[in-house]
Amino acid sequence: MANKIILDCDPGHDDAIALILAHGNPEIELVAVTTVHGNQTIEKVTRNAMAVARIAGITGIPFAAGAHRPLVRAPEVADSIHGESGLDGPVLPAPSFDVDPRHAVDLIIDTIMASPAQTITLVPTGALTNIALAVRKEPRIAALVKEVVLMGGGYHGGNWSAAAEFNIVIDPEAAHIVFNENWKLTMVGLDVTHQALATPNVVAAIAAVDTAPARFVLELLDFFGRTYRDAQGFEHPPVHDPCAVALVIDPSVMTVVRVPLDVELTGSLTLGMTVADFRSTPPDECTTHAATDLDHAKFWALIVDALVRIGDPAQ
Ligand code: BDR
Ligand code: CA
Repeated sequence: MANKIILDCDPGHDDAIALILAHGNPEIELVAVTTVHGNQTIEKVTRNAMAVARIAGITGIPFAAGAHRPLVRAPEVADSIHGESGLDGPVLPAPSFDVDPRHAVDLIIDTIMASPAQTITLVPTGALTNIALAVRKEPRIAALVKEVVLMGGGYHGGNWSAAAEFNIVIDPEAAHIVFNENWKLTMVGLDVTHQALATPNVVAAIAAVDTAPARFVLELLDFFGRTYRDAQGFEHPPVHDPCAVALVIDPSVMTVVRVPLDVELTGSLTLGMTVADFRSTPPDECTTHAATDLDHAKFWALIVDALVRIGDPAQ
């Protein structure tokens, strides 16, 4: 049976590819898409998610907009990476259906409460504001979700500061809530996503699919590749967010270890750092995990396969 997921995202070039992977893989049943401030404002990332839905032919599931800012801190966007629109590069089509009227937090809670226990996996690929608010508003969801598999953090260092990764540091208080909740959580962080590089052979394999969604992904990678080169010195861009979806699809795509994790809230240089305690065997009550290594070929094969399955959806 397919894994039911709620993708909580801030598209975002790599979020868009995560959405396409989730939609195009038969091991995943995408039950809802929620958006959160982050790469751009909530209005822009929600508009972007709807555009991706149209391009990939995603219909029949709710898309809802969520938190417009972090719990405590001032909002921050990643326009140096994702541009003014949050999804610069391709021309974005108008949505083909309406955004769900519910707040994302309510859609997350409603979906989990209406589903059998241990059947919904939360896959956040943006700031953790919606997830933190959801578990504070309805604490019973903590015991009901199957697991949380998130893109964010990293135990080797950051990308938005020396110590912290973007999704965590823009709302560290929310991340602290989510990492300390009593649910199975896996951090798919920079340790792994910096291995998910869109190398020339990957780009060629996507080009060979030769459909509108594949060309859309190529345009995303082209823009994202240039900003990653200019802003962070990468020769090929690291495509973070689909890594979290890939782990839900196929656990053999990466190595994961159980390790205590926490989020730094007070360090003047280390705010938002995700600290992993590798000193000894984790205590029995430890429910946090960290991904450590990626099978690059297997990961990109999943994305190419999803594009082949999606084909050219009627617009
Ligand atoms: C994360 O930050 C965002 O810009 C990306 O979409 C990804 O979720 C990587 O640090
Ligand atoms: Ca993201």
